[in-house]
Amino acid sequence: MPHFRGQRRRVWIWGMIAVLAGLTGSLLTGVGQNPVAQAQQGLSQTQLEQAQYVRSCGSCHVALPAQVLPTETWRRLLQDPNHYGQQIQPLTGVPLQLAWGYLRSNSRPLRQREPVPYRLADSRYFRALHLQVEFPSPVRVSSCVDCHPRVDFGDFASLSPDWQS
Ligand code: HEC
Ligand code: HEC
Repeated sequence: MPHFRGQRRRVWIWGMIAVLAGLTGSLLTGVGQNPVAQAQQGLSQTQLEQAQYVRSCGSCHVALPAQVLPTETWRRLLQDPNHYGQQIQPLTGVPLQLAWGYLRSNSRPLRQREPVPYRLADSRYFRALHLQVEFPSPVRVSSCVDCHPRVDFGDFASLSPDWQS
């Protein structure tokens, strides 16, 4: 990836994080005790949860949509500081509750004794969403954007022209 693109992307992401941080911060004060204030701001609990998830898990790579991996995978990833060869700070407190709220309610459980997949390529939920798709190269967090040009906006339904039929 050319250098300038990476930088622009990073600037955009940090901007997004700042906005979300402000939003979440100002809203959290009202959560639970003041549903009216929360509703006036126009953000539901569901939106708060997703915003926190994007903020916590979308800074280094695209925020993967919850439905691509089973609930058990997300539960483990949220608690593990060893993250695919990188150290991350596991979430705690309210951010953990919110991010987990989003992931839990938008993913599905594994069958009994089914191994926990840590890569999308091993996830039958990811495969089920891509039944017709032949991947030219192994799927990684960095490759979603090849076919989903609007991932930065959390939009996985839009496809690049090659894939529109
Ligand atoms: C500090 C940077 C960083 C943060 C924060 C981060 N990740 Fe990652 N993540 C990585 C790196 C690096 C990889 C490995 C990329 C690769 O191997 O292609 C990765 C890979 C992944 C993968 C594997 C995808 C695949 O099939 O290859 C998943 C799932 C994932 N991250 C989820 C999360 C979740 C959930 C969070 C929030 C708790 C999170 N990440 C936060 C850096 C980060
Ligand atoms: C080689 C192209 C390609 C790549 C790479 C790819 N996808 Fe897809 N994806 C598709 C196509 C095509 C569809 C629509 C499939 C259909 O409708 O049968 C799709 C559908 C989806 C959907 C369902 C969208 C909806 O709301 O209908 C999700 C979620 C999704 N992809 C996530 C991902 C993620 C996350 C990644 C990266 C880890 C990824 N995809 C990488 C081609 C791709």
